[in-house]
Amino acid sequence: MDGVHDPKSPALGLLQEPGEALSKLPPDTAGNQVAWVRALEEGTIEPRATLFRQAPMEVRDTDVLLNLKGSTPVVRFPHKPHTRWLACSNCHDQLFKKEPGSNVYSMERILQGEQCGVCHGAVAFPLTECNRCHSVPRRSPALAAPGAGR
Ligand code: HEC
Ligand code: HEC
Ligand code: HEC
Repeated sequence: MDGVHDPKSPALGLLQEPGEALSKLPPDTAGNQVAWVRALEEGTIEPRATLFRQAPMEVRDTDVLLNLKGSTPVVRFPHKPHTRWLACSNCHDQLFKKEPGSNVYSMERILQGEQCGVCHGAVAFPLTECNRCHSVPRRSPALAAPGAGR
């Protein structure tokens, strides 16, 4: 009756309402109200690396600090929660080059759906959650470590 689903499909009875499915996952206060990274960490969801073949995800466990010269808290980009379900090629090298200093970030472009905004605000937590990205206080000892970021 919604004009989207085929009422004659035998699979129709297997489909869940999104709210019913999402309510099984750890709750969040933003976006679609699911704490997706917690769901990953707790093993509630176990994304596959490929559709048809058993293969492990290539997980990278490094953080990159961005926006070291700005006025807002420093942005910490963590590879791990991204690469537990996104292949490197989603970001490298078209969206972001790997070499430090080779990308020119801009909050304006992010808000227009580029850079981090390709996903954040679309399929990942919304851009109104400033402090989830701007998460490292300017005075944090982490910023004093040699080569800590740029
Ligand atoms: C998805 C991650 C993300 C979110 C969410 C986000 N930002 Fe940013 N923001 C960035 C990145 C990355 C930069 C680095 C750009 C640069 O180096 O200038 C940045 C840069 C900025 C800058 C310019 C540099 C500075 O510190 O003065 C401002 C201002 C800013 N963000 C404000 C905000 C505000 C306000 C929000 C919430 C409404 C927000 N941001 C949400 C990632 C994010
Ligand atoms: C969601 C996007 C995203 C994904 C997926 C991603 N990266 Fe990155 N990567 C970045 C960003 C952003 C930077 C920071 C670049 C900069 O300094 O401006 C970065 C930096 C790097 C760097 C240099 C800094 C470091 O951590 O050593 C390497 C190497 C790298 N990525 C490798 C990988 C590999 C290998 C994968 C897959 C296992 C991967 N990345 C997946 C976004 C991503
Ligand atoms: C290719 C898609 C994609 C891009 C590009 C991307 N992200 Fe994400 N990001 C995700 C997804 C998916 C999640 C997990 C779902 C969520 O938390 O909403 C996530 C989660 C995060 C988290 C939360 C990690 C945690 O432990 O809860 C941070 C912080 C973050 N991203 C920062 C960034 C920043 C900064 C950039 C840009 C430099 C960026 N992301 C670019 C898809 C992306």
